[in-house]
Amino acid sequence: MAIMKRKILITGGAGFIGSHVIRLFVKKYPEYSIINLDKLTYAANLENLHDIESYPNYRFIKGDIVDLNFLNILFQKEAVDGVIHLAAESHVDRSLENPAEFVNTNVLGTLNLLQAALKSWGGNLEGKRFYQVSTDEVYGSAEHGDFFTEKTPIDPKSPYSASKAAADHFVSAYQNSFKLPTLISRCSNNYGPNHFPEKLIPLMINNILTDKPLPVYGKGENIRDWLYVEDHASAIDIIFHSGKIGEVYNIGGNNEWKNIDLIHALCKIMDEKLNKEPGTSAKLITYVKDRAGHDLRYAIDSSKLQSQLGWSPSVTFEAGLEKTVDWYLSNRDWLNHVTSGAYKDYYAGMYQNR
Ligand code: NAD
Ligand code: DAU
Repeated sequence: MAIMKRKILITGGAGFIGSHVIRLFVKKYPEYSIINLDKLTYAANLENLHDIESYPNYRFIKGDIVDLNFLNILFQKEAVDGVIHLAAESHVDRSLENPAEFVNTNVLGTLNLLQAALKSWGGNLEGKRFYQVSTDEVYGSAEHGDFFTEKTPIDPKSPYSASKAAADHFVSAYQNSFKLPTLISRCSNNYGPNHFPEKLIPLMINNILTDKPLPVYGKGENIRDWLYVEDHASAIDIIFHSGKIGEVYNIGGNNEWKNIDLIHALCKIMDEKLNKEPGTSAKLITYVKDRAGHDLRYAIDSSKLQSQLGWSPSVTFEAGLEKTVDWYLSNRDWLNHVTSGAYKDYYAGMYQNR
């Protein structure tokens, strides 16, 4: 079989999920040329990619997806034939503080990428792919017993999810109006190594390590469906290569946890790993003011992806959580670097009233 060469632009590759997608593609497809385009916001960390930065099929370019002129020049110079778009503002709490930033990056940035891809691919769409990495949050909050399918109406409830939903609509509109070959996937909550410690799991790990309160929003009864980040990356690989153009695919772990139960499970692992008395970490649990408009439950039905493209999650939650804790414990430098500077200012601002 002839080796197919591809030049793929992956946006947001210095972030949490993007770095795992970059690593998978760079290692699995030595014949591809992988470009990581990232603005390097507070959420980015090129240390995430230290192990693959010298691979000959990998290149990093610093740039902003909101800058259309920059994108047009990049697409002209690089002749990419695939885009996997992960760059975004991704934290719901930040979207409540500064919604305009989310419209700018997530909506205008996505529109500009679509426009630059269309302009560059224009006459020849054969073999091209524009893949939008989206989120289950665009479906809103699920009633108990219900699951989000790809046909569930879009009903976003936070500025973050509204911006991702708007971006998804633009992707579909470019498919419909201009026949741009697009794909969209919507995944549930990811966890794993390199997760920025303002999100639930790494924040709790970091606070246990530094003996700080573990802030549980509201009563801790909100439910999330957790997926190990490498399983999300493998789903993206399969959808990019085998997904049907114009389709949406849900990705999820079928692994629902109430926040408070998850935090207790994490505390137990941390006590074991740190040789502490059982119950020590859980004493840090502190109930704080709820997130505004806090979605109660996310629950993904990923049967379309499983039955049509043969994907399934490979890491159980028990194994994944332990692997994640081990990673944070043996990568204290990573954690210390991230928790210094801008992150600390943000943390102080966000939690001062809680
Ligand atoms: P992240 O916040 O860790 O990383 C986002 C990356 O995008 C950062 O490296 C940042 O520098 C970059 N970026 C931001 N604005 C940019 C701009 N204007 N130009 C170029 N780069 C820019 O996010 P994540 O958690 O890795 O999520 C990645 C994608 O996956 C997002 O689109 C998110 O909506 C989606 N998603 C995330 C989850 C999750 O649980 N984290 C679940 C489902 C979907
Ligand atoms: O569902 C996919 C989404 O998952 C992605 O699209 C987002 O980019 C990603 O950030 C994540 O969103 P959540 O809001 O679900 O993740 P977060 O880690 O911020 O919060 C998870 C749950 O934990 C949520 O119910 C809020 C709660 N929480 C969070 C933090 C940071 C707390 O109780 N305390 C906290 O300190």
